[in-house]
Amino acid sequence: MQLSGVITSIIAAAACVSALPKPPVKRAVGGLTKRPPAQQVLLCQGANATGICHYEAYALDECHDVSEDFFHNTRTFAPDGDDFYCWPRVGKCADICKSPTGCTFGGAFYFDNPHKYDLAQIAWEKSLVSFDCHKNITTDGTAA
Ligand SMILES: *[C@@H]1O[C@H](CO)[C@@H](O)[C@H](O)[C@H]1NC(C)=O
Ligand SMILES: *[C@@H]1O[C@H](CO)[C@@H](O)[C@H](O)[C@H]1NC(C)=O
Repeated sequence: MQLSGVITSIIAAAACVSALPKPPVKRAVGGLTKRPPAQQVLLCQGANATGICHYEAYALDECHDVSEDFFHNTRTFAPDGDDFYCWPRVGKCADICKSPTGCTFGGAFYFDNPHKYDLAQIAWEKSLVSFDCHKNITTDGTAA
């Protein structure tokens, strides 16, 4: 097929798709599709979600090395949900941590952490290398 033929086919297909009635946007209750165990975290080089940012859903219970852009260069670290928390770490995932504090600044990062929009407030703006996130666990041991 000639390139122009391909393009015509694509346009025809696209036109066909857009002619279909749009399915109603419905919020799944009880979930047809189970939400994957991942949560969104916003990382930015600047405070208050400024500068270069990256927003992604990260799998829970796994360590994630930050990309080069954010290596030792993250001031906004904002978990975007109150049902999970993250541990920012000073070492790479593959590193063996020998610090008794787990190579974090000693605390988990929750949605309501007052420093999430400026890690400089806890002198951590040049420390983030990796992190891992976990679902909130209630006192009786079940997931929140
Ligand atoms: C971030 O925003 C808060 C609230 O508007 C402000 O008080 C603070 O100075 C800002 N931080 C920086 C580093 O711009
Ligand atoms: C998860 O834990 C944090 C910190 O204790 C709390 O603020 C938040 O409300 C909890 N979220 C849920 C869904 O239990």
